[in-house]
Amino acid sequence: MNVLSVTPEIYPLIKTGGLADVAGALPLALAGKGVAMRTLIPGYPAVMDAFRKKKPVLSYSVLQGGKASVHAVKLAGLDLFVLDAPHLFDRPGGPYGDATGSDWQDNWRRFAALGHVGADIAAGAVEGYRPDIVHAHDWQSAMTPAYMRYGGAAATPSLVTVHNLAFQGQFGAGIFGDLGLPAQAMAIDGVEYYGGVGFLKAGLQAASAITTVSPTYAQEIRTPEFGMGLDGLLNLRAGDLFGIVNGIDVEVWNPAADAHLAARYSAKTLKARKANKAAVEERFSLAPGDGPIVCVVSRLTWQKGMDLLIPAVDGLVASGIRLAILGSGDAGLEGALLAAAARHRGRVGVVIGYDESLSHLMQGGADAIVIPSRFEPCGLTQLYGLRYGCVPVVARTGGLADTIIDANEAALSAGVATGFQFAPNDTAALVHAMRRLAEAYQDPVMWAAIQRQGMKADVSWDKSAQKYVALYEKLLSGKAAAA
Ligand code: ADP
Ligand code: GLC
Repeated sequence: MNVLSVTPEIYPLIKTGGLADVAGALPLALAGKGVAMRTLIPGYPAVMDAFRKKKPVLSYSVLQGGKASVHAVKLAGLDLFVLDAPHLFDRPGGPYGDATGSDWQDNWRRFAALGHVGADIAAGAVEGYRPDIVHAHDWQSAMTPAYMRYGGAAATPSLVTVHNLAFQGQFGAGIFGDLGLPAQAMAIDGVEYYGGVGFLKAGLQAASAITTVSPTYAQEIRTPEFGMGLDGLLNLRAGDLFGIVNGIDVEVWNPAADAHLAARYSAKTLKARKANKAAVEERFSLAPGDGPIVCVVSRLTWQKGMDLLIPAVDGLVASGIRLAILGSGDAGLEGALLAAAARHRGRVGVVIGYDESLSHLMQGGADAIVIPSRFEPCGLTQLYGLRYGCVPVVARTGGLADTIIDANEAALSAGVATGFQFAPNDTAALVHAMRRLAEAYQDPVMWAAIQRQGMKADVSWDKSAQKYVALYEKLLSGKAAAA
């Protein structure tokens, strides 16, 4: 089966968050299961620099205001279609905005172009290639099914995966004329959204099926609290909405062979983590101590609940917990964390920035990782934590609720506990969970049992890739039934 994946990010070429990890790992996981996945991505500078241009497989004399072409390349084991459109993608900064973090004003153009090209490829525009299914990720790719619906690929089944409903790609009605869609598309069952144009909404409306990245989030987004204005539509489409939990790349994230660690280890050699803990202490200027080091590796945003952690810091430090925090994002949160580090020298260390290598070391050396997200479609850092024996302490929401088994009495005596959950998501409940963690840490036998149980959990892509295969097959047989 041929599946065309369309995504704005893919590890290891371009990443701002978990979507990139998923888009990069899924094709490799599917390859062993009879699915050949090719991925269409924008030709950002980091992507264009990674290969030498040969003859394009598709050319446009004008695409959203400039010349564009599509290159078929193989990079990092991935089969890619790269959309080379310098007027849209050849600029410094991040994939969505400039170096100061402001979104590009023409993001609608950039990602309409991506969707347009995805739909053209779906319709057979690249000679010798026609996907059986198109799988689009998040709002940046969600126009693909919309263009397919109004273009020449209406019969090809499509899937939109929602990685984060908070980002919807909402624009003013004024852009509609430049999208190249027929007038009837500007309707409530088309791309129209609260009087403007909604890219994610358009995709959710047009796709044959919708997935999100955990079963709990799939339920949550049908409620007004988590639905971000799309719960009505998601309820209408509930029969086509599925939650498939993310896996992780267990080769990239393997404590037994991780070059970023000071010492490699397995569940049988947990003591070797000591050397990594010492390296974490050094990197974060933490004074050696007997208590646990709890880490944070996160975007610093409202979603991630860092503002719930900040008021708890003084109390946590008083109880003997040390904190190692790596993240970047909201300037207010960065400032508050740096202030906490200044107040508690040697007990709280903060690194502002994005550092893939350091994030590995932290999973391999910290005792626990705290994730107080207000909502979390899946979350990957708790899965890395499980694999590395870095015990997750998580808010009971979305994928965090689905992947961590709380160390309550029953779970501990059954030997199935893998971490700590808390609810409701507020500072008091967070502190309570951290207290339980600190207590468990004082019992080395119990602590090692929780670590080992986590390390046993299957966090690979295997089962979830199989679920995507089953869904693709279902969509194909649905198409056959409709024909
Ligand atoms: P989200 O995609 O919402 O940010 P996920 O947990 O799904 O959340 O994925 C986040 C990914 O980004 C993980 O791979 C995590 O390790 C990584 N990450 C987040 N912040 C940083 C950082 N400051 N430095 C290095 N890696 C980070
Ligand atoms: C989003 C979500 C995160 C999820 C990731 C990959 O960024 O915030 O929970 O793990 O996508 O699906």
